Amino acid sequence: MSGRPRVVVTRRLPAVIEAQLDREFEAELNATDQPLPAEALRAALGAADALLCTVTDRLTAELLATEPLRARILANYGVGFNHIDIAAARARGLVVTNTPDVLTEDTADDALLLMLMVARRAGEGERELRAGRWTGWRPTHLLGTKVSGKTLGLVGMGRIARALAQRAGRGLGMRILFHDPVAPPAGLVKSLGAAPREHLDDLLTEADFVSLHCPATPETRHLMNARRLALMKPTAFLINTARGDVVDEQALVQALTTGRIAGAGLDVYEREPAVSPELLQLENVAVLPHLGSATRETREAMGLRVLENLRAFFAGAQPRDRVT
Ligand code: DGY
Repeated sequence: MSGRPRVVVTRRLPAVIEAQLDREFEAELNATDQPLPAEALRAALGAADALLCTVTDRLTAELLATEPLRARILANYGVGFNHIDIAAARARGLVVTNTPDVLTEDTADDALLLMLMVARRAGEGERELRAGRWTGWRPTHLLGTKVSGKTLGLVGMGRIARALAQRAGRGLGMRILFHDPVAPPAGLVKSLGAAPREHLDDLLTEADFVSLHCPATPETRHLMNARRLALMKPTAFLINTARGDVVDEQALVQALTTGRIAGAGLDVYEREPAVSPELLQLENVAVLPHLGSATRETREAMGLRVLENLRAFFAGAQPRDRVT
C-alpha cells in the first residue's frame, strides 16, 4: 500500500495527465482504452477510493448500490454527467465532479463547424471529390444555404451557447435568439445582442439554425420530438452538440427524409456509439463522432481539472466542480 488514494481510470487520458495521476495517486490506468464492462466498474467502486470516469461509463443506480462501497468520489472527465445516476450517487454519499469551462470554446467551435458543414454541403462535396466524381467548377454545383446573416436559435443559454452566440453574431452577423427557462444575466444577453423567446415553439418557428445546448435530463429527453421538429422551417437545420437523448432520433430521421427540415449537423447520438443507419445514408446530414472537446489543448485542460478536483477532495477541501 502506498498510502496514496487509489484511483481507477476508466479510459486512456492524455499522456501528461496519466503521468501526473501516477505521481500523485495509486492510479490504475486503462492501457487498452476499452470501456470497462459493468462488472469491472462494480469492482472498481468496491476497491478504489475514486473512480475517474467519463461519458462512456454508465453508472446506474444498480451499479452504485455496490456493497461494500469503497469509492467516495466519481471524478468525471467531461462536463456532461447524464451517464451518472446523480440521485443514487447522492444517496450513497458519493461526491461527483465534472470539468466545465475548459471545453466551452471547442464545443462552440464544433457547433459552428456543423452549421457550416451541413449548410454548405461540405461533407457531400468531400465525399464526391474523394470518390473521384468531381468534374470541375460549374455555376450550379452543390449549391448550399448561406449562413451569414441568418437567424440562430439557441436552446439553452449556458456557457457553450453564449460562446456560439459570440462567434455567430460577431463573426457571421447572425441574429441570435435563445430560449432558456433559467434567465441568463441581462447584461450578458445585451452584450451578445441576443433576444429571448419565452416559448421554445416560437424560437423553433423563427430560426434558420436551431442549436441545442441544454443538459440531458428527464425533462429534456426527446425535447426535439416529431411535433417540435415539425415547427421548424422546412429550410432550417438542427445542430446537436449537447446530448443524443435530447433528440428523438427516429423522429429526426423522419423529418429529414420527408423534407420537414433541411438538414442536421450531429455530434452526439441517442445510442452512442450506434447511429441510426438511416442518418448515415442521408446527404443532408453532417455527422461527427462526439468530437466537441476533442483538441489536444482541451483534453489536457479537462485532465488538469479532474486532477484539481481529486486533489482538493483528498485534501479534505471542497472540489471546485462539485455537482452533488
Ligand atoms: C462532455 O464533456 O460532456 C463531452 O461531451 C464528453 O463527455
